[in-house]
Amino acid sequence: MASSYLDVYGAWQRDPEGFWADAAQEIDWFEPFDRVFDAQEGVYGHWLTGGKTNTCYNCLDRQIAAGRGGQDAMIYDSPVTGTIEHWTYEAMLAEVTALACVYRDLGIGKGDRIVIYMPMIPQAVFAMLASARIGAVHSVVFGGFAASELAARISDCEAKLVVSASCGIEVGRTIAYKPLLDAAMEISPHKPDHCLVFQRPQLTAELVAERDIDFATAVSSAKARGAEMACTPVLATDPLYILYTSGTTGQPKGVVRDNGGHMVALKWSMEHFFGVKPGEVFWAASDIGWVVGHCYIVYGPLLNGSTAILYEGKPVGTPDAGAYWRVIEEHRVAALFTAPTAFRAIRKEDPQGDLIRSRDLSGFRALFLAGERADPDTIAWAETQLRVPVIDNWWQTETGWPVAGNPLGLGLLPVKYGSATVPLPGYDVRILDDAGHPVARGTLGNVVIKLPLPPGCLPTFWKADERFRQHCLAEFPGYYRTADAGYIDEDGYIFIMSRTDDIINVAGHRLSTGSMEEICASHADVAECAVIGIADAIKGQVPAGFLVINANVSRQTADIEREIVALVRERIGPVAALKTVICVKRLPKTRSGKILRGTMQKLADGESWKMPATIDDPAVLEEIADALKARGLGNTAP
Ligand code: COA
Ligand code: AMP
Repeated sequence: MASSYLDVYGAWQRDPEGFWADAAQEIDWFEPFDRVFDAQEGVYGHWLTGGKTNTCYNCLDRQIAAGRGGQDAMIYDSPVTGTIEHWTYEAMLAEVTALACVYRDLGIGKGDRIVIYMPMIPQAVFAMLASARIGAVHSVVFGGFAASELAARISDCEAKLVVSASCGIEVGRTIAYKPLLDAAMEISPHKPDHCLVFQRPQLTAELVAERDIDFATAVSSAKARGAEMACTPVLATDPLYILYTSGTTGQPKGVVRDNGGHMVALKWSMEHFFGVKPGEVFWAASDIGWVVGHCYIVYGPLLNGSTAILYEGKPVGTPDAGAYWRVIEEHRVAALFTAPTAFRAIRKEDPQGDLIRSRDLSGFRALFLAGERADPDTIAWAETQLRVPVIDNWWQTETGWPVAGNPLGLGLLPVKYGSATVPLPGYDVRILDDAGHPVARGTLGNVVIKLPLPPGCLPTFWKADERFRQHCLAEFPGYYRTADAGYIDEDGYIFIMSRTDDIINVAGHRLSTGSMEEICASHADVAECAVIGIADAIKGQVPAGFLVINANVSRQTADIEREIVALVRERIGPVAALKTVICVKRLPKTRSGKILRGTMQKLADGESWKMPATIDDPAVLEEIADALKARGLGNTAP
């Protein structure tokens, strides 16, 4: 079909408020909004002000009222436990209502914060929706984060309750969550009143008297009492959730998502971007701890009346590289959304795609890739093997839905490898130089979005308006700074090339090298350090740390390197994936003392590099090159 993209984007450009007012009709409102956009409210304005609604109502009750009660809302597929469960919209509502009653009985109400630290199990989704039902604000913390990261989030949002589980299951090992939760409760200066703990049979946990409550017992007792719980009306601008993401310092940023704009944007994107219809099965193979999981495992599919897949497994190893194709065949998945890293992992194990051909994928229409740059090689392999459109799309935790992509729902545009294609309605994307001037087409620069950001994007950081202004809006007045670098070509296609800050992307997970440096520097023997992202064939990037040891230290450097690896794992969690740490004599610096991380990265990746004109001592780069060579990394020639 011919794409209607230009017409639709043009309609938004001509009348942005009319465009979003129409899109807002796709969800149910308890009270209509007064204004589509109020520029006087919030940091840069607020969408749909005065409107009252409820996200859980639109996800569940509304779908049941429309006759979808018996349809699967969610299929839980867990190869790590050998479980498949089908949850209809009606069954899900019963669980969510009972849990909402448990929350209420624990004294949680509208606006209170609930931290959810859970593996990929249905109860995690119920915990999110039950929070939405009572107008509370959830903050999901990814299971691969360590106790101190969990504690930082509990304390920043001053959670009243933590919902957790006894364990998570990774390939071949069970991870006890409870010791991490207990440690976080200990460290956090703010103490939530209670922890609601879901006991999994694979590993149960000791509950702390008074504080901890057994999840299943509480829910069944609420059901036995015939608990009912209507949805609490909330303002469109009231927060639905906070999702912490890596910033340029160790202190994570609490990205706020509101109720109204979020629903409107997600519903629009399900239909017009992903091209998924109500009743169809949509699978985002991510984790509920990430933004993709929030938006497209939970809220997007349910708001659309589709069926979501909740997959507790990996692309490889559970049990093999054919896992995705089994799920697609077995549950008739129409579209899959994952990170390119998953495809690189699959390709490594099954380069000829033999495991793909043994499956019936006739119902499968499209593959969406996001979370990191989709390398042309991976896209080409996936296209050849799957024979469906492979759609790169670019966005970030802050935006909450794709900024750019090839809109399947509006009709596909020609594909350009390496480009996330075109901006979606709502987004006016520009490229500016460091002084804030527009650059010519095809020229690399700072990727920014003209304010206001569309519905669904963050209105601010949690209780940190000023930090939001400083971090995102101050550098380029009138624009939101994405902290990505890229260019727009003659045809208006967007190419996202790299970050402009210290964030690296490891297996689709966003990590701050700055926060890793803070941890390295906290080691008593470390005088100076630099952490950079280096290329990795599967994960895209992995961190590598360079340490300068204090002069008076006589210990073996290998011991210190091991301690640093353990320290980062302990403080951030296994997801940080810091495995390469190298002690060096000196770090390369400019004459003004700035560490030349960019040049170090080029050296480590074996890319060509130029001797920086401002370098203090060129010999240091040779030392770094030698240290890398000794570990089998990089090359030495400038
Ligand atoms: N709970 C506890 N630990 C976790 C975890 C969780 N939820 N998720 C990951 N970890 C651990 C892993 O077990 C691993 O530990 P290890 O160092 O002891 O091996 C570590 O964190 C790093 O995990 P990861 O970066 O995921 O690497 P991996 O080698 O386990 O798997 C992939 C690599 C590519 C298979 C995996 O990253 C993947 O499936 N990616 C899919 C894309 C995705 O989810 N993207 C998210 C955003 S869309
Ligand atoms: P996160 O907030 O974890 O979703 O990470 C967002 C960051 O990941 C972006 O700012 C980009 O740097 C990167 N990213 C996400 N999707 C893409 C993509 N399709 N192409 C290039 N980079 C991407």
